[in-house]
Amino acid sequence: MRDTDLREAADLIDRAGRIVIFTGAGVSAESGIPTFRDALSGLWEQFDPRRLATPEAFGDDPALVWGWYEWRRAAVQQVEPNAGHRALAVIEQRAPECVVVTQNVDDLHERAGSKEPIHLHGSLFAPRCSACGRPATVANGAPAVEGRVPPPPCDHCGAPIRPGVVWFGEALPADAFEAAVAAAANCDLLITVGTSAVVFPAAEIPQVTARMGGAMIQVNPEPTPLDAVARVNLHGPAAEVLPALAAV
Ligand code: OAD
Repeated sequence: MRDTDLREAADLIDRAGRIVIFTGAGVSAESGIPTFRDALSGLWEQFDPRRLATPEAFGDDPALVWGWYEWRRAAVQQVEPNAGHRALAVIEQRAPECVVVTQNVDDLHERAGSKEPIHLHGSLFAPRCSACGRPATVANGAPAVEGRVPPPPCDHCGAPIRPGVVWFGEALPADAFEAAVAAAANCDLLITVGTSAVVFPAAEIPQVTARMGGAMIQVNPEPTPLDAVARVNLHGPAAEVLPALAAV
């Protein structure tokens, strides 16, 4: 990461009236939460998304799917936000207007101090009934290893409770997606952090800003399709780059 790039990025932040922060799994990597597509360590390297992250998978084997998400929920509860999440909350607090849009289903932005991030792919902490859709409360004490756990029944209708996340083949929550598109279209600057930017429609969000003439800063140790679109590319891990950026 070059000093000139860092200064240019800090200058864009200082001058922006409206900022969107758009994050993916990479922002939580240094908290100990695996990403999806990183070689060797990525979740989709080790687990088959078709067996775990589709409505059909839940229909075929609810205990396998519920147990996997309960394991992920427990893993998130055992870790802390990292310096990258905290620096983003600082940038958010300093900005005249700022909206955090995340693809992550963890709660690390909230715990670092971000205000009401938009969760495009839902949350591990918002289970709901698979039939009637009512929100459900699930006890803590989730398993420390992945394995089958039968989902509890809905208090209202008795159908199995499902994770409150967006699966492959499902639509994004309409209110969240619309709010994210509106924020991306109207911002001066979008800061994208730790996303491969290949999963649509979420990956459309930074493209909306680019099309509307907004500036973009990208933080990622690896190249992505956004390299060509971003005004400044800060190559490095979020927990190192973002505190340096917030301190300029
Ligand atoms: P990916 O796993 O596709 O990409 C993670 C990105 O984070 C990669 O570009 C890495 O280079 C980068 N990265 C890794 N370590 C980093 C670090 N320390 N600091 C900054 N960046 C780092 O994750 P997402 O882009 O979030 O959806 O994936 C998008 C969606 O695909 C997820 O929300 C999930 C998944 O399937 C659903 O489950 C619906």
